[in-house]
Amino acid sequence: MRRSVIIGCGAYLPKRVIDNAEMSRLVDTTDEWIIQRTGIKTRHIAAEGEFTSDLAVAAAEGALARARRTAADIDLVILATSTPDNTFPATATTVQARLGIDQGAAFDIHAVCTGFVYALSVADAMIRTGAHRRALVIGAETYSRILDWSDRTTCVLFGDGAGAVVLEAREEEAELAGRGILATKLRADGRHKSKLYVDGGPSTTQTTGHLRMEGKEVFKLAVGMVPGIVHDILGEEGLKASDIDWFVPHQANERIILATADKLGIPREKVILTVADHANTSSASIPLALDRAVADGRIKEGDLLLLEAMGGGFTWGAALVRW
Ligand code: UT7
Repeated sequence: MRRSVIIGCGAYLPKRVIDNAEMSRLVDTTDEWIIQRTGIKTRHIAAEGEFTSDLAVAAAEGALARARRTAADIDLVILATSTPDNTFPATATTVQARLGIDQGAAFDIHAVCTGFVYALSVADAMIRTGAHRRALVIGAETYSRILDWSDRTTCVLFGDGAGAVVLEAREEEAELAGRGILATKLRADGRHKSKLYVDGGPSTTQTTGHLRMEGKEVFKLAVGMVPGIVHDILGEEGLKASDIDWFVPHQANERIILATADKLGIPREKVILTVADHANTSSASIPLALDRAVADGRIKEGDLLLLEAMGGGFTWGAALVRW
């Protein structure tokens, strides 16, 4: 059967780092509060003139190098972002041009923090139909540009970054033992819009706006909704939580991640946690975590990975990947 196999990943974090001590000089907060409530220690902030496309290109170059593929091999670029360079064109097309790719399709996917799981699912479907052969799937964000830096309830939680993977069509024989994306599952429920949104946009205010969030509500719903979709995807594939080698969740808050892992019965030593170093980078957080765990040798070929995310919309989703 045709499968989309991840053959390389890459990541990029901007150079400038803001630690919690520096945050406490900007707003009324403390290192202790931020660590206790979120596990976050530092976040990376894009430099002036450094855009989402720049972060995406750096991560994509890393993924291509790791996959031993070049621009000429890629016929699909999907960029998950909710902080595009411009209202249009899609930032994916800027990335495509910067990488020197002049064939195939390129477009953005906007599903906020679930963006990478949505993008992976769409790319997988496009590859399995045979329409495309090799895809770059990227999550890249510059949330520093949409934060209200005077609102301590949100500005301490987010950062900038990018991560990318290269997917390649392969013929795999075994259903569950074969490499590649085994299954994805996507959900959305627009009734929760007011709990997490940006209060601007081209059609409404003609401004970019700022991120607004009812943190406690999002927290409760995340811990409630994510285990449900994970149970569904595992059940449909005939798998159990104990079959998972690595849990690679969206990195929003260490407490949400560990509460979710506990609910699912996934032991903590199987959880990839990077939120301490880069805070919530929205659609970039899963590929950033993947890149870290592949680079340090934890994730190895043949391992079964569970990816999951939940974010504005609300949107949420999960993916099962045989590395
Ligand atoms: O990717 C999805 C996007 N978002 C998320 O995943 C975020 C989900 N939510 C969360 O991570 C957590 O709800 C927060 C980290 C945002 C907040 O943690 P919490 O335990 O739910 O705290 P809280 O909102 O109940 O606030 C507790 C107190 C409040 O003071 P009072 O009302 O008890 O006096 C806040 O005003 O902490 C106060 N507070 C702060 N204090 C110091 C809120 N932000 C800060 C801050 N520093 N930065």
